[in-house]
Amino acid sequence: MRIFAGSSSKNLARKISGKLKMDLSPVEIFVFPDGEKRIRIKDKVLGQDCIVVQSAGIPTDENYMELFIMIDALKRSGAKSVKTVIPYLGYQRQDHIFREGEAVSLEVIAKILTSVGMTELFSFDFHSPKIPEIFSVPVHHLSALPQFGEKIKELGRNTVLVAPDMGGIRRVKQISEMLGNIPFATIEKNRDLSSGEISNSGLTGDVRGKIAVIIDDMISTAVTIVDATNLLIEEGAIKVFAFATHGVFARYADKILQKSKIEKVFVSDTIEVPPYKIFPKLEIISIAEVTAKALRSNQ
Ligand code: R5P
Repeated sequence: MRIFAGSSSKNLARKISGKLKMDLSPVEIFVFPDGEKRIRIKDKVLGQDCIVVQSAGIPTDENYMELFIMIDALKRSGAKSVKTVIPYLGYQRQDHIFREGEAVSLEVIAKILTSVGMTELFSFDFHSPKIPEIFSVPVHHLSALPQFGEKIKELGRNTVLVAPDMGGIRRVKQISEMLGNIPFATIEKNRDLSSGEISNSGLTGDVRGKIAVIIDDMISTAVTIVDATNLLIEEGAIKVFAFATHGVFARYADKILQKSKIEKVFVSDTIEVPPYKIFPKLEIISIAEVTAKALRSNQ
């Protein structure tokens, strides 16, 4: 068995390989002046089971392209199988057609991954539980929520979980059950499909005098989390914390979150946060152990 890191997930891949008591196999990634990449697998992989770790955060298209070429290089070098760890599966929000004339972008990604030779996918906290159905290979849907649950316990007993939109109720219910059915509330979020603009039209549940804990799958621009925080404070929450598996942190999300009324933001390391985007209110929880465990039990 061999394990390889793509350039978006070097730290996570190092941690996972350490937990599997394996060394990362060398891969040569040469970038041409025009941005194209040449990828060369340096170890012999003929007949070997291989693992590639590459997340699809910013720059999403570039990270995917590198992954497609890595898988192709492994297959052409004779790899028996290519298990792909894509901790954050980019394009997952376009998993169906919202408006006439759109593409199903995630299906395009799935088709390319399987046609180049991915044999299994390991990924974290999908936006929708139906995503595995898009793939024709086994999908291992892993989760950072149990680790978030442990952190939430440390915030004390006066907490209420909050889903920042209807799609998040499933996650909040899961953590609530994990923590002995603690209360939860839901925000009704509306997104304008052409402009992408967000508005909140109400809160169901009581947050007055409580520590509100927002749970989401991802933070991109941070508008969802910051709008939700403002609403929760208006509705009487004494403090607001946020947990999201994927810290996409697009545009100025890091600065917006730091300036916001939020106490602390917890994300996992499904996406490597570049040092210039790390902010004082941020805490990163590693999913390396969960990934290593899943890879170990699927050998
Ligand atoms: C949307 O349905 C997702 O669950 C997230 O709430 C959303 O993608 C976060 O995006 P942003 O941080 O840009 O508001």
